[in-house]
Amino acid sequence: MELLAQGAEAKIFRDKNKVIKERLSKDYRLPQLDDSLRKFRTRREAKVLHKLGDMKFPSPRLHDFCDNRMMITMDFVEGQTVRDVLDNESTKDDYQILAQEIGKKLALMHTKDIIHGDFTTSNILKETRSGELKVIDFGLSFFSGKVEDKAVDLFLLDRALASKHFQFYPGIFEHTLKGYKDTFPEAEAILARFEQVKNRGRNKKK
Ligand SMILES: Nc1ncnc2c1ncn2[C@@H]1O[C@H](COP(=O)(O)OP(=O)(O)OP(=O)(O)O)[C@@H](O)[C@H]1O
Ligand SMILES: [Mg+2]
Repeated sequence: MELLAQGAEAKIFRDKNKVIKERLSKDYRLPQLDDSLRKFRTRREAKVLHKLGDMKFPSPRLHDFCDNRMMITMDFVEGQTVRDVLDNESTKDDYQILAQEIGKKLALMHTKDIIHGDFTTSNILKETRSGELKVIDFGLSFFSGKVEDKAVDLFLLDRALASKHFQFYPGIFEHTLKGYKDTFPEAEAILARFEQVKNRGRNKKK
């Protein structure tokens, strides 16, 4: 087994065509709280991956999970994070297409009332072979039909694009919205709320 990544929350191992995500304990958390938090996120990620698999949504297929060992086994996706793809100089002219694809993926999740909770370009992989985007990292996800929750999901993406991909901002978010609107019939209501969420943030700063 090979260690692929050590994220903020987990260690990611590769074993042939599978990935094992193991949530690590954090010293700064009370042990009991730490345990229940890791259990909750492991279960949640497995549940959402399972549901997405049923939907044929582009995310790694879930193979197995264990909420005692805090582990999830899923498909290995051969590729790069969209964050790295966008940081690569040669992608400059393609960012609009990529952004639209990102918006479509979020819209597909929102159509099924799945809120990602951490939808940033680090949590989207571009598969080398197919060029397809695959969404990962569902530990903070939840099910909700609320306009507010979808608007906040969109807002977090907006903030992540502004800070991590400022060289393409705001164009990159506008193209993301185009993909989102083209795919999600209820997008107008979400966008109206998104504007409110953004203004709330502004007012707080004053
Ligand atoms: N199924 C997968 N196939 C290939 N690589 C993966 C897969 N899942 C995760 N990775 C790699 O491991 C990294 C971290 O995974 P993930 O985002 O699920 O965990 P995390 O602990 O939340 O990490 P971070 O704090 O960096 O967001 C990803 O950015 C990606 O590079
Ligand atoms: Mg992540």
